[in-house]
Amino acid sequence: MNRIFSGVQPTGNLHLGNYLGAIKNWVKMQDDFDCIYCIVDLHAITVPQDPVELTSNTREVTAGLVAAGIDPKRSIIFNQSRVAAHSELAWILNCFTPLGWLNRMTQFKEKAGKKRDNAVLGLYGYPVLMAADILLYHATHVPVGEDQKQHLELSRDIVGAFNRTYDRDYFPLPEPMILGQATRVMSLRDGRSKMSKSDASENSRINLTDDAETIQHKIRRAKTDSEPGMSYDPENRPEATNLLGIYAALADENVEAVALRYADDGFSNFKDDLADLATAKLEPISAEMHRLTSSNDFIDGILRDGAERAAAIAEPNLRSIKEIVGLL
Ligand code: TYM
Repeated sequence: MNRIFSGVQPTGNLHLGNYLGAIKNWVKMQDDFDCIYCIVDLHAITVPQDPVELTSNTREVTAGLVAAGIDPKRSIIFNQSRVAAHSELAWILNCFTPLGWLNRMTQFKEKAGKKRDNAVLGLYGYPVLMAADILLYHATHVPVGEDQKQHLELSRDIVGAFNRTYDRDYFPLPEPMILGQATRVMSLRDGRSKMSKSDASENSRINLTDDAETIQHKIRRAKTDSEPGMSYDPENRPEATNLLGIYAALADENVEAVALRYADDGFSNFKDDLADLATAKLEPISAEMHRLTSSNDFIDGILRDGAERAAAIAEPNLRSIKEIVGLL
């Protein structure tokens, strides 16, 4: 059986990178797969969080997933901390993960920065918890943006280590699915750095909560270059390439085809069209998010129901893992 698992951190606004790199694909997958989508609040606390904001972000991200088209009846949507089996399996998998594998993780190096000794153990073990998320449900496919590729390779290595130790094909090897025309959406202010929640500049990203005016404003202010016409050239024209990729992903077109169509247009015309397209696609999501977050009851009901359905899969699996390890 094929099963999708993927996750998103409730650490701030969902942005266009999350949407095009992940959530838009998650919506489509509901037609063909059994899907589990997790708001990973335990991952979020690997960096300091304000408790009140963390709770409200968890609700807001849930609203974002539903507003983008994830159907909480068909798919499971829940927050990670409600299903204790994630933490328990993470501990077991910690015991199969050599430090050398974790030392290679570029996201840890970036987040820990120069003061590595001050970085917390949770941040270091982050990818093991991610492996636990996936393996707890025996997920076969994991749709993510490109930045998660290394973490998924580690999950596959952990599967290998576990299965070899007990000499059986217990966990399926999870397959990364890095799909679409915008697997790595870049900052609107700098085409060489990733669009991210932690960028200090609000103008670097489009949030799913932005209204039409803000979307238009951010696209018009996006960094450009001085070349004539638009062209797809990741090496030399990162800003033009990023905007073309965003257009292609929003319109479900091929990026080369979009680049050809705008080859004789300057940034200004292209940005006008991109701003209209982005507004048409994103504003309904933003409006629906605002509607859904006006009362907590509906969202809390989704998370409660999702956690029950997730636990019904996770708990028997954790029991069989414990039996294999000899823990019962
Ligand atoms: P997070 O919360 O950083 O991002 C959620 C999803 O959005 C994608 N993404 C992007 N895609 C394209 N361009 C960007 N600029 C961009 N920024 C973010 C991410 O690749 C991701 O798919 N560790 C994960 C959450 C996680 C998880 C899991 C994912 C926890 N457990 C198990 C899959 C399976 C994370 O921090 O995602």
